[in-house]
Amino acid sequence: MTSKATDLSYVIHHTRAMRRLKPDPIPEDVLLKLIDAANQGPTGSNKQNARWIVVRDDEQRQKLADLNRKAVDTYIDGPRSSLPSRDGIVRAVKWQRDHFHEIPALLIPCLMFEDNPVDTWQAGAGSGGSIWPGVQNVLLMARSLGLGAALTTLGLSDRPAAKAVLGLPDLVEPYAILPVGYPTGKFGSLTRLPLEEVIHYDRW
Ligand SMILES: Cc1cc2nc3c(=O)[nH]c(=O)nc-3n(C[C@H](O)[C@H](O)[C@H](O)COP(=O)(O)O)c2cc1C
Repeated sequence: MTSKATDLSYVIHHTRAMRRLKPDPIPEDVLLKLIDAANQGPTGSNKQNARWIVVRDDEQRQKLADLNRKAVDTYIDGPRSSLPSRDGIVRAVKWQRDHFHEIPALLIPCLMFEDNPVDTWQAGAGSGGSIWPGVQNVLLMARSLGLGAALTTLGLSDRPAAKAVLGLPDLVEPYAILPVGYPTGKFGSLTRLPLEEVIHYDRW
């Protein structure tokens, strides 16, 4: 870990989706730091209803890898495959698809509900918005500890199948799969729009 990686602004500006990861295991205390970071994220009405599944079992990783492969293949061959700069991303996504089962830890952010969520992807105390602050905390903490991670959702495309693999009760919803491990290459820097393109003052 460089001293830079302890600087929050540096970490924010260098947290990329790292898909090429080594199979080397992550020490338990390091994994717990990721979940602790996740657990510090805010939740609507402070419900603290986020739960985290750490998947390391070979069979479980293989089942999630199979679901991810199916969705990635559909995505790559689908209508969205003409996205700009798709080549670099597609190569990395294919690498991830082929090595998903070897990635040492797959973290699954989940939310527990008291009732059926109206729309599990919206913000609000009764819906999915409470998971994303914790997810970003994991990505930032992983980067600061020299671990690579990515926010992935394709592997949950068949949600009933994913829920069955994970043994989730009806009122517990999964939101992402975060494959985490030590990166095979270097952390690059981010490519984002310039501020003047994304900021509006007082009104659109
Ligand atoms: C809601 C959401 C869903 C995503 N789903 C996937 C996914 O299924 N697979 C994947 O490899 N990356 C996925 N990503 C990662 C994005 O592709 C990535 O963050 C984006 O290309 C920017 O990459 P960078 O942060 O390395 O610049 C997802 C990101 C978000 C925010």
